[in-house]
Amino acid sequence: MRNKVITVAQQKGGAGKTTLVVHLAVALMQRGCRVALIDIDPQGSLGHWHRIRTERMGEGYTGLHFSTLSGWRVGSEVSRLRKNYDVILIDSPPHVETEARTAMRSADLIIVPVQPSPTDLWATKATMDYAKSERVMARIVMNRMAPQSKIAQAIMDELDGLCDAKLGNRIVFASALLEGKGVTEVDPKSQASQEIKALTEELLALFPQEVLENA
Ligand SMILES: Nc1ncnc2c1ncn2[C@@H]1O[C@H](COP(=O)(O)OP(=O)(O)OP(=O)(O)O)[C@@H](O)[C@H]1O
Ligand SMILES: [Mg+2]
Repeated sequence: MRNKVITVAQQKGGAGKTTLVVHLAVALMQRGCRVALIDIDPQGSLGHWHRIRTERMGEGYTGLHFSTLSGWRVGSEVSRLRKNYDVILIDSPPHVETEARTAMRSADLIIVPVQPSPTDLWATKATMDYAKSERVMARIVMNRMAPQSKIAQAIMDELDGLCDAKLGNRIVFASALLEGKGVTEVDPKSQASQEIKALTEELLALFPQEVLENA
């Protein structure tokens, strides 16, 4: 993957945006991509995670570039970072106000985490409609899936653009953050890790030429 901007967006709070950004960032880094992170969410959760990572690994040794800024500055920051990074991952706040919209408009790909609940489903449609109106490619990632859940199946039947890879409801997705790490660092053989790797490969495959370049 080369010079690609991926915005993780979902107006529903707590759907798993920050969790997804963290684990994808680490997996893409391990896959050989130069990764920059941008946090435009005033809650600053991604920054908190990166601070822990810096404390543990040392300034400049996290393997990831991190910046935090207001959404309206995303455009200029992205143009600057595109030159030096393969992937720029943006974590956005839980609403589709101007700032999140700017981050979605600046993206080559929007990823929308969805938990198997009706309220997540309804919120997702708004985010997907916005992506479509801006002609930005968008994919949905089912998060905190329970195996053979009927409601999850009913919700998936309502959605277009689903990734094949899905994430289960697994404690390590949360606990890894406390260590400033991703699941693929904390427990590379775990089910959670396999899920993130499958998702990472699926996303890399959306940009086929770049996959060949990285191989
Ligand atoms: N697959 C998962 N398994 C277990 N816990 C998860 C999973 N995904 C998210 N969580 C937990 O759910 C909570 C919300 O996740 P997260 O903070 O990533 O959501 P968010 O969309 O970024 O929230 P906000 O809208 O407030 O920014 C966190 O406590 C996180 O650890
Ligand atoms: Mg968040």
